[in-house]
Amino acid sequence: MTTRVLVTGGCGFIGSCFVRLLIDEESDVEVMNLDALTYAGNPRNVEAVAGSPRYRFEHGDIRDEALVARLVEGADWVVNFAAESHVDRSTSERAGEFIETNVLGAYVVLEMTRRHAPGARFLQVGTDEVYGDVAWPGFPDEQAPLHPSSPYSAAKAGADHVALAFARTHGLDVIVSRCTNNYGAYQYPEKMIPLFVTNALADEPLPLYDGGTQVRDWLRVEDHCRALLLLLRRGASGEVYNIGANQDPEVPNKDLTAMILEACGKPASLIRPVEGLRPGHDQRYAVDTAKIRALGWSPRLDLSDGIAETVAWYRERRDWWEPIKSGEYRKFYEELYGSGS
Ligand code: NAD
Ligand code: TYD
Repeated sequence: MTTRVLVTGGCGFIGSCFVRLLIDEESDVEVMNLDALTYAGNPRNVEAVAGSPRYRFEHGDIRDEALVARLVEGADWVVNFAAESHVDRSTSERAGEFIETNVLGAYVVLEMTRRHAPGARFLQVGTDEVYGDVAWPGFPDEQAPLHPSSPYSAAKAGADHVALAFARTHGLDVIVSRCTNNYGAYQYPEKMIPLFVTNALADEPLPLYDGGTQVRDWLRVEDHCRALLLLLRRGASGEVYNIGANQDPEVPNKDLTAMILEACGKPASLIRPVEGLRPGHDQRYAVDTAKIRALGWSPRLDLSDGIAETVAWYRERRDWWEPIKSGEYRKFYEELYGSGS
């Protein structure tokens, strides 16, 4: 039997990986991709599957109730990726768009699902950043209190709460995932890894914040997407699942930067230390992933192989990132880091 899936934000980094995974590997799945094509949404991310008869695209906003009501009709799964996703934008600009899309938008998709596809399984794609700064050696499990630090993570925490409230109040079949930092192909070059890789390949400085002592638990995007598919198939209704690589030993940003420079064949002199740019910068993210691992999931590639694979992709696909870096993003980058960057 065909599974009909409404994906929101499927032209972004993770959403497009999920769409490609569904179309390439799941022959019994049909995908409707709803995306507003903000600066981060790029139709080129899904061009490899756009010709499939099992794929459809709708250009629109998740806050548009009538549109979401129409698209969700008949869906078996609803997967909400759509969000404003960049922490630096949420701290350096007005954060209204983060609250609007990440909280109100998630509410609209939930409400329209409840009304028009009440039997659907709803996956709210969340982030480990909702736990806030995690003191070493802690690993918050899914019951840990939420302490979001940035407007981005606060808005994502809001969406988690609304989604879980819909499970409890309305009996909607909701799952919330909370994944650690992703990396891989088609990631908008504002996040650390694609920014550093593309800058290094272009012999431009790598703006390393606050001494690079912060720790993130980097997970390859394909591993995240396979975890999400597993949750849709086997996750328990009303539950939260952490997803993460559990890097051991943990990798601070400065070590990751060295790994990227080595994979690019570039010198450490490209590193440009930047202090105080990210107010409220969280020192460490880490999560307890026992719950999803008990379902049989584990990451397929380790970090150094994943970085090598990622650098090779950005080396090959200048046609993808050079136009992005010369356009709207250039303006944001110059405002953030100064025009000498
Ligand atoms: P992204 O910024 O690359 O993509 C976001 C997508 O959502 C874009 O295609 C954009 O056009 C679309 N979008 C934005 N506002 C919209 C709206 N109002 N209506 C419809 N579409 C809209 O983000 P990403 O890195 O792919 O993240 C996807 C999701 O995963 C987000 O919810 C994010 O919070 C979550 N997440 C990201 C990471 C990470 O490391 N990137 C980790 C864990 C969780
Ligand atoms: P980022 O990729 O923005 O993800 P998040 O803020 O969601 O964790 O940043 C990852 C880490 O890299 C974070 O500690 C901030 C740091 N960073 C830099 O040092 N320089 C940069 O230019 C960026 C974008 C991030």
